[in-house]
Amino acid sequence: MIPKEVIEEIVARTDIVQLISGYVTLKRAGSNMVGLCPFHSERSPSFTVFQGTNSFYCFGCSAAGDAISFVRRIENLDYPDAVEFLAKRVGITVIDTDVHETRSRFDRKRMLEMNREAAHFFHDELFKDNPEAATAREYLLGKRALARATVNHFGLGYAPNTFDTLTKRLRSLGYTDDELVAAALARRSEKTGNLYDYFRGRVMFPIIDVTGNVIAFGGRVLDDTKPKYLNTSDTPVFKKTRNLFALNFARGECAERLILCEGYMDVIAMHAAGFPQAVATLGTAITQDQARIMSRYTKRVVISYDMDEAGRHAADKAMKLLEEVGVEVTLLRLPSLPGVKDPDEYIRAAGADAFRKVLDGSQSKFDYTLDKILSKYALNDPQEKIRALAELREAIAGFPSSAEREVYIGVVADKFSIPAKSVREDVERALARNRRTYKKKEGETLRQSITGYQDRINPEFSKTPGIARNEETVLGLLLLDPTYRAALHRDPPVLTEDDFLTAFSRRVFCAVRDKIGDGEWEISALNEDFTPEEIGRIFGMRNRRMQLTENGDKLFSDCVAALKEAVAKEKITASDDPMAALEQVLKNKRSDTKGEE
Ligand code: CTP
Ligand code: MN
Repeated sequence: MIPKEVIEEIVARTDIVQLISGYVTLKRAGSNMVGLCPFHSERSPSFTVFQGTNSFYCFGCSAAGDAISFVRRIENLDYPDAVEFLAKRVGITVIDTDVHETRSRFDRKRMLEMNREAAHFFHDELFKDNPEAATAREYLLGKRALARATVNHFGLGYAPNTFDTLTKRLRSLGYTDDELVAAALARRSEKTGNLYDYFRGRVMFPIIDVTGNVIAFGGRVLDDTKPKYLNTSDTPVFKKTRNLFALNFARGECAERLILCEGYMDVIAMHAAGFPQAVATLGTAITQDQARIMSRYTKRVVISYDMDEAGRHAADKAMKLLEEVGVEVTLLRLPSLPGVKDPDEYIRAAGADAFRKVLDGSQSKFDYTLDKILSKYALNDPQEKIRALAELREAIAGFPSSAEREVYIGVVADKFSIPAKSVREDVERALARNRRTYKKKEGETLRQSITGYQDRINPEFSKTPGIARNEETVLGLLLLDPTYRAALHRDPPVLTEDDFLTAFSRRVFCAVRDKIGDGEWEISALNEDFTPEEIGRIFGMRNRRMQLTENGDKLFSDCVAALKEAVAKEKITASDDPMAALEQVLKNKRSDTKGEE
């Protein structure tokens, strides 16, 4: 456990606007700051940062919380790691007193050290004086034509084709079998229970995070056997959907443009040819997290995938995800050369200068879409021409910038020899329709998050939505105003946990009563007990009260009464004793006023 005062100090010293500005472009709106929400896709900013209360709230997706919740979500950290992350930023040393915590932390550090040892092992094996190593060297330096310096730069290596050489080495360094298995460097044989090396007979690509830790490996066979690559599965120090190969090198070089590749070898070839802005996903299609990470380092991404069907398909997906996070995307189109299907092969065949030309001429999304649509239809057939125009109209309407749309309208009008005016009208109709659907969708998400339809945070909400809404109203007021909280400590208290029907509301109530003092709003007190999603919900309760409430006192007493009545009713149905039931009714007689909403 990290002491409460330390956490409060960390949160107090963190300037939330400055923190969030590192991830989101914020603009001033009155006394608050607004920007595009980093937690859901949107075109108009509904993500709001309140400097006064050191908090944030997204009116679109209900993400909310304080600096700690923000870091937990955006960096995907658990609670103690998020605290440590912020502590480092403000220069506070966190001493964690929990033994268990300290141990698990220690393991993480050891796992990183072990990975580093493994990387050294693989690298040393590659340069050993034996026939197997010579074959691996011939593969990398000969067949794949890498310079020795490139091999060293990327720390490439070789995993010998033996049963447990690495396992033995790591054991001799003091690592336990459990640690080896947890790091996915070894596996346990189901038959014998013995450990064996996971990577065998493969050239090895270490994956290094932006702080320089070796977090995982990819290993390629030297021939055509399957599977071509093996990759480290997710471990306590590695999540493949949140890392990018070579970002450790690219991060300082890619402010202007970043090149996104499909494969390790494409990245290595590019870096070697003088394009250190290249990164690749790790054996999976690009994820939202990876898109978001890229958007933190660059404003433009050149997608540089294989030229086959699968590559084009993957490029479509990458383009969509990257645009959602506000990155400008262009697509690399490799000129067709015999035997060339990926950038690595192109560079080897045509050279670095030729590649630079291709890179600089990378296609905008519009050109790419135009090409794709034009090649699909026979334009001398009027019907097909109309269909092509319909697709182009939708595509143009998808661009958020009106200047951009205007340019493309001109291009299409020219191409089809029709007046720009009629293309523009079509685009505007599509645009209006898109806006309507978008508004409707946004409204729906918001409504769902409020009414609890498909409610994962409070699954009981939909059973008694009226009451659950009253519960949230009461909680919102309690969070907002310390005078209501003070009433919880009166004798008898105005409200107890027994007045809540849904378990989630009850849990929130207890935390609010027991953890939040009667001073200012300190959400950091809740961080420990609730997930970031739950914190978001709790913030939502409070924020709705901030916007919707005029007569708070009346609302509070009405809702409290309604809750007590609901609980009493519940008890009557549950009870067999008619006298007890009557007593309950009498006791709650005065509370026949209902809460608002
Ligand atoms: N990949 C994988 N597992 C496979 C095949 C591919 O994880 N069985 C991943 C690897 O990260 C690889 C990327 O997908 O780098 C692209 O695959 P591919 O284009 O087939 O390989 P290349 O990187 O071009 O490798 P090479 O040039 O060595 O054939
Ligand atoms: Mn390749």
